[in-house]
Amino acid sequence: MTPHLPDGHVQPAGLIEDPLVSALRRAGCVFAEDEAELLRRHASGADQLDDLFTRRVAGEPLEHLLGHVRFGDLRLSVGPGVFVPRQRSLLVAHEAIKAASQRTEPVVLEAFCGVAPIASAVAAAVDGAQVHAADIAADALVHARRNLPDAAQIHHGIGFDALPESLRGRVDVLAAVPPYVPDHAFGLLAPEARDHEPRRALTGGVDGLDHVDTLIVDAHTWLSGDGVLLIEMNVAQFDAVASRDGYVPSFDIDAVPGEDGQTVVARFRRRP
Ligand SMILES: C[S@@+](CC[C@H](N)C(=O)[O-])C[C@H]1O[C@@H](n2cnc3c(N)ncnc32)[C@H](O)[C@@H]1O
Repeated sequence: MTPHLPDGHVQPAGLIEDPLVSALRRAGCVFAEDEAELLRRHASGADQLDDLFTRRVAGEPLEHLLGHVRFGDLRLSVGPGVFVPRQRSLLVAHEAIKAASQRTEPVVLEAFCGVAPIASAVAAAVDGAQVHAADIAADALVHARRNLPDAAQIHHGIGFDALPESLRGRVDVLAAVPPYVPDHAFGLLAPEARDHEPRRALTGGVDGLDHVDTLIVDAHTWLSGDGVLLIEMNVAQFDAVASRDGYVPSFDIDAVPGEDGQTVVARFRRRP
């Protein structure tokens, strides 16, 4: 690619912007210089670089193109067609690590795991944790397998149906980032998510709480006696969940607020 300048216009030396950076900037990439650098380093040749730039300018998420995403200290495998872990979910990972660290050889489950960022973070931080991860999407679980240590167990299926009976009543820390965008808000998502991540990874019904409801109702039989359930959601959804009469009778609930002012981790602890 060459810079496009109006006929006869002479750009002073040193002020000619990298044409790839310009193309990315025009496509709306805020960190165009960084992205250009990353894509150049990732490409094995000119043809691949051209392909990557074309796809990025057309809106494919950078992480899908690079094949990885940073999540705290971890570099997680991701790829086209799967949900890319968000930085806001470091909060639920942190809470899961905290809860698991307080127990000996805790059994930890990331439900709705995608590429398993929370389970991977716990496995990396908590010695002796027995880590499980479950999701409906087989392609996401391919990445989860790469991200998790060999000892971690991965379960494929719908919700809790994916889990082996042997886990029932034994999960000390159950953490999840279920799809929680209300159906009507799908159109407001960034095009990168809307066009390149599976819809079933994003939306959760009329109020976004379909999967949250399932988790809260069904978690009882999977949690151990002092097990804790951690679910990422947004602030307004937490207020709705916490104020429903008789909805969560056997849990003490509180919210761990995220720094973005939008995200919370709802923390459910079993009442003794
Ligand atoms: C918002 S993504 C979160 C993934 C991962 N926890 C993360 O933070 O990157 C939600 C995940 O739920 C999975 N999912 C959606 N419906 C499901 C269901 N009925 N049973 C199991 N997993 C489901 C999707 O495949 C997706 O990977």
